Amino acid sequence: MADVSDAPKRVRTRHFQRAKEQGIRITGLTSYDANSASIFDEAGIDFLLVGDSAGQTVLGYDTTLPVTVDELIPLTRAVANAVQRAFVVADMPFGSYESGPDHALETAFRFMKETGAHAVKLEGGVRSAEQIRRIVAAGIPVMAHIGFTPQSEHGLGGHVIQGRGEEAARLLADAHAVEQAGAFAVVLEMVPSAIAERVTKELTIPTISVGAGPHCDGQLMVWTDWAGLSKGRVPKFVKKYADLRGTLLAAAQTYAAEVASGVYPASEHEYED
Ligand code: KIV
Repeated sequence: MADVSDAPKRVRTRHFQRAKEQGIRITGLTSYDANSASIFDEAGIDFLLVGDSAGQTVLGYDTTLPVTVDELIPLTRAVANAVQRAFVVADMPFGSYESGPDHALETAFRFMKETGAHAVKLEGGVRSAEQIRRIVAAGIPVMAHIGFTPQSEHGLGGHVIQGRGEEAARLLADAHAVEQAGAFAVVLEMVPSAIAERVTKELTIPTISVGAGPHCDGQLMVWTDWAGLSKGRVPKFVKKYADLRGTLLAAAQTYAAEVASGVYPASEHEYED
């Protein structure tokens, strides 16, 4: 949406819908703090997801499974406080919505009341449709998430591409279920481009790709992977737009050397009497 002359002052769900109808690509990144959020907002990124990927990127867990609502709330509040234009989506963590629509609505209320987010996201297609319906009925926009759903990584047998071959029918059923339940957009994670294209054509709501190819209505990446800050391997679909890890490493090494040698602090860094 960033390149349109009538780019909104504040992105809202209707702009997602308009983008789909007009063929304008939607941009998204994750964010977990005020500095990155204000940079991405200034750059015109349309939406920021405070993902439960914070489990790995911020909290140092191996998976998203241990992440709690209490851990995500302050991160989401920091992001929502830092933006002026971007639409902020709060991710509902594992264990905060699965037991039923009432539970899901209680969690969604907490995110909306305590963080200033504009929408919530939860994982699952057919299995989460009732939860989505209940949250949407309370006036809270829901971004759905199907395909590879990291909170189910053990049930899915690891980081496995979803929707291949005969599994395509299940992916389509999930996509239609979340649309019918009232989701305003749906994330497709790690699915082949061809089935993502079909889903995108069949749905009236925008599809957001996380490793689902170029035919989706928008793209989303975990910002620390996208900026080259994460340690180790990143998924195939990630394109690194910077080398923040290399830049910070060099800066920290220079700082350590300058403190050791007495180069820092210099006279311009001192206070006078
Ligand atoms: O938590 C997250 O960052 C996500 C995206 C990868 C979709 O759920």
